[in-house]
Amino acid sequence: KKEKFMKVNYFSRIGFILAVSGSAIGLGNIWKFPYMVGEMGGSAFVLVYLLTVALIGISLLIAEMVIGNYSRSDSITSFEKISRNNKTAWKFVGFSSFSGLLILTFYSVVIGWIFYYIIKSLTQNLSVSLTTSEEMFSGFLQNDILSQMFFHLISVLLICAIVYKGIKKGIETTNLLMMPLLFIIFLGLLFYSISLPTFGKAWHFLFDYDFAKIDSNTLLMAVGHSFFTLSIGMGAILTYSASSAKETNIFKDAVLVAFLDTAIALIAGLVIFTFLFGFTDKAAKGPGLVFISLPTAFAAMGAMGTLIAIFFFIALSFAAITSAISILEPSIKIATERYKIGRKKAIMIFGAIVYIIGLMALLSNSKDFSQILTFGSKNLFDWLDYLTTAILLPIGGIAISIFLGYFVPKEVLRNQLSRSMSTKVFDIWYFSIKFIAPIGVIFILLNESGLLG
Ligand code: PFF
Repeated sequence: KKEKFMKVNYFSRIGFILAVSGSAIGLGNIWKFPYMVGEMGGSAFVLVYLLTVALIGISLLIAEMVIGNYSRSDSITSFEKISRNNKTAWKFVGFSSFSGLLILTFYSVVIGWIFYYIIKSLTQNLSVSLTTSEEMFSGFLQNDILSQMFFHLISVLLICAIVYKGIKKGIETTNLLMMPLLFIIFLGLLFYSISLPTFGKAWHFLFDYDFAKIDSNTLLMAVGHSFFTLSIGMGAILTYSASSAKETNIFKDAVLVAFLDTAIALIAGLVIFTFLFGFTDKAAKGPGLVFISLPTAFAAMGAMGTLIAIFFFIALSFAAITSAISILEPSIKIATERYKIGRKKAIMIFGAIVYIIGLMALLSNSKDFSQILTFGSKNLFDWLDYLTTAILLPIGGIAISIFLGYFVPKEVLRNQLSRSMSTKVFDIWYFSIKFIAPIGVIFILLNESGLLG
């Protein structure tokens, strides 16, 4: 009976690695990372991002993995179970999983855009002209509300359907299928761009470090992004780890996932900038990079470009879908296991919430509704991204590191991790969790809030 339970509810070894990589590798790597590099002046941002992934990111990945693997529960119950004292207070950290619903609102809207662009690529509707390309994207966002609502609906329904099927049949199967294809497509794109003359230029853009360009803003944006890209701070990794085999090698898996996540971001950066430098003279910076500038490069490549565009947007949709399901699952696990709500009912309720708030987010980009859905300097869409990435995930990260560093007996952690880490590595990790991660991230937050001037 136990065996059957494990079969239905537990990841296989490869399934776990691909699911966690699937969560980490997403819009953050392929959509956000390249445009942030573009906006922040290239390699300085890349360097700080790489350092923070190594210094803080991997430690927090390990932290979430160890909590989930040890407690084997939903995120709220996990904190309650493991804490030495203050049980009731710490369980509130688990509620950070619901911030995933907020991430999912704008995330699912962007997945809708990707579906739209898959169709545009299939029907060869991408334009060489930057102006036309820009008109297509902004026309879609600002005026074509019905199409956007439709694609957004498909996106939310698909995410809900996969999560509804559960860890094994839904989440693992999806990742087993999509992640290898994603890796193959991106390796193919990488080899193709290496053959192009502008590859060298892209390489220098990403890797020629100019330390003078590292200012406090670059530093803080890079740190925030490393959280988002590794899926840290809202219990996604924790939740998946609760369904991993007890004897999972946490250290090895965390390092592997961080490596794959970074590799895909860098490959995406190299590929996209090689295409942009080679086939367009002006690049739209910011969120439009992948949806405005890149399509002009695809169009300029001719027939080959059509093919590449199709593969690129399909791979992007795979990356995004495998992340989106990991953003929803933590809330569903809490609802079904802690509050005993039926899986179907929980999915319908959360799916509806995500669809409705997402709908308002997409309306906030439109001409007719932007005015009533803009608050201060940002519209609702941008607020949701900002609130979750710059505030909620970092707070979640701080809470997790303080929790493990100060409220869980060190011996317990040492026991849990002794299987995968030597004492020396454990001590380094523990130092990072106790001091580097919380202090570093509190610093980011204070700066975001403007308190540091
Ligand atoms: N890591 C995902 C990305 O880079 O797109 C986004 C994400 C997934 C954030 C899961 C947070 C999360 F819990």
